Amino acid sequence: MTRVLVVGSINMDLVVRTGSFPRLGETLLGEAFATYPGGKGANQAVAAARLGASVSLIGCVGNDAFGDTLLAGLASEGVDTRWISRVTEATGVAMITVCGADNAIIVVPGANHALTPAHLDAAGQAFADADIVLAQLEVPRETVEHAARLAEKYGKPFVLNPAPAMPLSEALLSRVSLLTPNEYELSVALGGAEDDWPALLARLPGRAVMTRGKEGACFVASDGTLRHQPGYEVTAVDSTGAGDTFNGALATFLPLGLAEAVRRANAAGALSVTRPGAQGGMPELDQLTGFLERQP
Ligand code: RIB
Ligand code: NA
Repeated sequence: MTRVLVVGSINMDLVVRTGSFPRLGETLLGEAFATYPGGKGANQAVAAARLGASVSLIGCVGNDAFGDTLLAGLASEGVDTRWISRVTEATGVAMITVCGADNAIIVVPGANHALTPAHLDAAGQAFADADIVLAQLEVPRETVEHAARLAEKYGKPFVLNPAPAMPLSEALLSRVSLLTPNEYELSVALGGAEDDWPALLARLPGRAVMTRGKEGACFVASDGTLRHQPGYEVTAVDSTGAGDTFNGALATFLPLGLAEAVRRANAAGALSVTRPGAQGGMPELDQLTGFLERQP
């Protein structure tokens, strides 16, 4: 059982389903509203826990009703919540508009921005106990950089999902064992043209996997060859959290080697889009195994 330590965000997702995205100044009638647990950190933690990993999450929520609900949800998924702090800022929210299977998201970080390097120092035991440390970019940059330093100090691989897109410093990149961007995030993270992704990936042999939505994922193996792992055919209802599912699964299966981990993470990501909500549709281990066995 892989022990995964996630450092990241916890949000309540406020989701409106509509028939079209509103234009500037336009008022639309939506079709449905729902709240779902979300946040890239929490989503990745839940994805890993459902697949059988032993998961701890370091993050912050507010002293409010959303914080209560999200903490209870994480605990019921078997995620160790002991390193999650309650702070005075309001729990993070994401306003999500879903149209077809596409989405547009505005995140208000709130409590997530109160996660400091000191919180990580206080959770040294969690780093010591982990096999893999997994982070994203919805908490302060200095906190992510500190997570990378602590992973290095404790000798643990550091997997960074560079989402939302932002440029990465050389210092941070040098500590990343595995970077998991989509095409756009890769170009922003490394500073290059989106079309140039094969060249960008080649700068990180064996250390980067680029997700391509339903096309699957690409990576450059340690021997420098470009590999493509195709995606899986599913009926998509909500793509929110597919990347997070991929990341949680990738961390869980990384001990099996990069190619096999990418294959399973692709399948987990595909299954996640078949149910609404970021965490809806994230498979349990037996569901994932059954799905992969049914593939031609
Ligand atoms: O990656 C999807 C997540 O991004 C959502 O759950 C939302 O909370 C935002 O953080
Ligand atoms: Na989903």
